[in-house]
Amino acid sequence: MRKNIVAGNWKMNKNLQEGIALAKELNVALVADKPNCEVIICTPFIHLASVADIVDPAVLAVGAENCADKVSGAYTGEVSAEMVASTGAKYVILGHSERRAYYHENVEILAEKTKLALANRLKPIFCIGEVLEEREANKQNEVVAAQLASVFSLSPEDFSKIILAYEPVWAIGTGKTATPEQAQEIHAHIRSLVAAKYGSEIAENTSILYGGSCKPSNAKELFANPDVDGGLIGGAALQVADFKGIIDAFK
Ligand code: PGA
Repeated sequence: MRKNIVAGNWKMNKNLQEGIALAKELNVALVADKPNCEVIICTPFIHLASVADIVDPAVLAVGAENCADKVSGAYTGEVSAEMVASTGAKYVILGHSERRAYYHENVEILAEKTKLALANRLKPIFCIGEVLEEREANKQNEVVAAQLASVFSLSPEDFSKIILAYEPVWAIGTGKTATPEQAQEIHAHIRSLVAAKYGSEIAENTSILYGGSCKPSNAKELFANPDVDGGLIGGAALQVADFKGIIDAFK
């Protein structure tokens, strides 16, 4: 059975002290009121080691927001998958639309990052999703199919470790959310692509998260869809009350 997951994506927010305080507050809240789903916080690199030390792994796991597409060496400013794993982080977001748009991460680069993450026992949260013009042209199904090429070269065993996140770019940070019907329709399509490639058992076991202006007030109706297995949360992951409200959508 696939897992329900709520993952936070802090993006480039919170200095070290603020991030530690946020992780501590969230951890206390989840220890006091156990979640009904897996909860992950994906933080900037600088927070990883400290936050991994704070969290109770029974209720909260830690992930990075990116890793390098190279193993090691003369790549000034980069952080490898091995380095991420050495902090205690267990997950890594890959293919976020902001990385694709601002840092030109393409299908090939993301395939390399995915392989290196898996080789270092990090579980990728692999993001896909169309921009507004593609949605308006009704091209979302082909866009996500093309983006999945980065992970469709994996062996079935490796693919089974991947979490997918569908994030329509027009909904990220805009306050505009996909309707539950739009989310269900494309999540079912994504699952059918996984089934066509890897078979129905792997497809049924793949968690597919929704991301894009998810908040406590809309999480329940989004997560109620049969093919929506949780959320990848940006803005609302920066306040414990909001993030906890979304986690509680599974109660
Ligand atoms: P948002 O971001 O929740 O602020 O829309 C989601 C994401 O980019 O992962």
